[in-house]
Amino acid sequence: MAQPDEAGHDTMMDKMLANGIVEMEEMESMLSDDDMEDMKEPMMNVMMTAMMEGMYQRHSAPIPADYAGLHNPVAAGSASLARGQEIYSENCEICHGVSGMGDGPDGAQLSPGPAPIRISGQMLSDEYLFWRISEGGEVFDTAMPTWKRILDERQRWDVINYVRALGR
Ligand code: HEC
Repeated sequence: MAQPDEAGHDTMMDKMLANGIVEMEEMESMLSDDDMEDMKEPMMNVMMTAMMEGMYQRHSAPIPADYAGLHNPVAAGSASLARGQEIYSENCEICHGVSGMGDGPDGAQLSPGPAPIRISGQMLSDEYLFWRISEGGEVFDTAMPTWKRILDERQRWDVINYVRALGR
C-alpha cells in the first residue's frame, strides 16, 4: 500500500488516475501485447469515467481543518461491524449497493453516480472517509447526503469499519 501523502490520501489509486498514461506505459513494458489489448479498453474506461465524473478532484481535495488528521477511534471488532452493517443497510445500500460497488437502485440516475466505496474504503484515509460521510456532496455538488446530523460520530466510524471490511 502506498504511504499517505501530505493531504493524507493513500495516493496509489489517485496517482494511477492522474497519470493514467504513465501507468499505462509502465504496464505496457510488463505485459505482452495480447494482454495489453485485452486490458486497455476496460482500464481506460474506468480511468476516463473516474476523471470525467470528478472523482480524481474529490480524492485530491484538501481535507478541511475540522477533519484533518482524524483517525478511527473505534476498533473494528464484531460489535462495531455489526452496528456498521445495520447502519449501512438502512442508509447507504440504496445508493451504494449491497456489495458497495455503487450499484444500488437509487444511484442509477445520479451523475456522478455513487462511488464504489468498497474500493474507496481500501484506498482512502480515515480523515477523507469521515469528512465525506459527515459533510456529503454539498461542496462538490453531488447527491451524496450529509450524515453528520443523522449519524453520531461513533455511527459514522462504525460504518467506515463496515465498508472497509466489505472490500477485504
Ligand atoms: C442518495 C444516494 C446516496 C446515499 C444514500 C449515500 N451515498 Fe455516499 N455517495 C453518493 C454519491 C453520488 C457519491 C459520489 C459523489 C461524491 O463523492 O460526492 C457518494 C460518495 C461517497 C463517498 C466518497 C467515496 C469516494 O471514493 O470519494 C463515501 C465514503 C460515501 N459516499 C459513503 C456513504 C455512506 C457511508 C453512506 C450511508 C451512511 C452513503 N454514502 C449514502 C450517493 C449516496
